[in-house]
Amino acid sequence: MPSARPSESITKGSCVDNFKIGNVKLSGNLILAPLAGYTDVAFRRLCLECGAALAVTEMISVKGLNYRNRQTFEMLRTSEAENVSCVQLFGSDPSDFQAALGSGALDKFDIIDVNMGCPVAKVVKNGEGSALLHRPEVAFDIVRTLAKSGKPVSVKMRSGFFKDENLAVPFALAMQQAGAAMVTVHARTTAQLYSGLADFQTVRRVKDALSIPVALSGDIVSKQTFDERKDCADAFLIGRGALMNPSIFALLGGGELQKKYPLIKRHIRLLKTYFDEHYAVVTLRKFFSYYLKGEKGVKEFKSLIMSASSMDETCALVDKYLYSI
Ligand SMILES: Cc1cc2nc3c(=O)[nH]c(=O)nc-3n(C[C@H](O)[C@H](O)[C@H](O)COP(=O)(O)O)c2cc1C
Repeated sequence: MPSARPSESITKGSCVDNFKIGNVKLSGNLILAPLAGYTDVAFRRLCLECGAALAVTEMISVKGLNYRNRQTFEMLRTSEAENVSCVQLFGSDPSDFQAALGSGALDKFDIIDVNMGCPVAKVVKNGEGSALLHRPEVAFDIVRTLAKSGKPVSVKMRSGFFKDENLAVPFALAMQQAGAAMVTVHARTTAQLYSGLADFQTVRRVKDALSIPVALSGDIVSKQTFDERKDCADAFLIGRGALMNPSIFALLGGGELQKKYPLIKRHIRLLKTYFDEHYAVVTLRKFFSYYLKGEKGVKEFKSLIMSASSMDETCALVDKYLYSI
């Protein structure tokens, strides 16, 4: 049964040699996007082994950090694979960010990313995530506060809140002025959520206006979609494409897409390393809906995996049904 670590034969994900965020040098410019519920320490490590140059944590609440919430702290775990690490924070009050910095919990991270793109209603209602697009002065203070730490700060924004607002360029310029070292544009409006195609011309306009690096996020799922977008930005965040096959980083860096079975086996091994059995089993179930996209002959597996309650059962099903994918 093939179950080798993917890292041995992986090309580092890059289409440039020398990409930097502030003073932090990366091995490339292909980055695992923050994905709530997915980019835990195990999946980040898998993507780094597959050639991602950086892997961003899930979005982490600064309030949760300041209340010393146990689950929030769990999300701060990193691995030795993270030569460069990046935490994504969300919140609405600059003083919460200041307190989070002062708590020491963020000291181990090299880069701090701020979520200014989350469209989820309960986040937006609290003035967090993409609500900050409509409060540029607060967003400015948040970035300025974080930048005083001396760590590079990046901002992940949407191209706008509503259609035709044309706020991307002025907002991104304000973030640059506040001290951001990189801006990532998820090229959809908040109102679009995840529907429609990402508007990468807006990302190009932001890149043309800013002197700091600009990253593009949205719809990079193949070599073709990457090639269509690669002159629009300096770096690229890949989300759902990595959930479908983490070796997309190798592919885009000039290597090859790997078979999924050995990657899933490695993912299982990493989940077992970092988490308890319940978390590992439940988390993997979510991943299968992405891993199995476009795969034929997996209907029986899909129905059985939902009732697997142990890692042994999960592994037995994976070995029986997925060995050929
Ligand atoms: C399941 C899921 C969770 C996400 N969680 C976050 C998050 O925590 N922080 C964030 O900035 N964006 C989040 N996003 C947005 C992605 O980072 C990315 O910008 C978006 O999915 C578009 O890129 P893609 O087409 O490569 O997936 C999430 C998206 C998905 C699908």
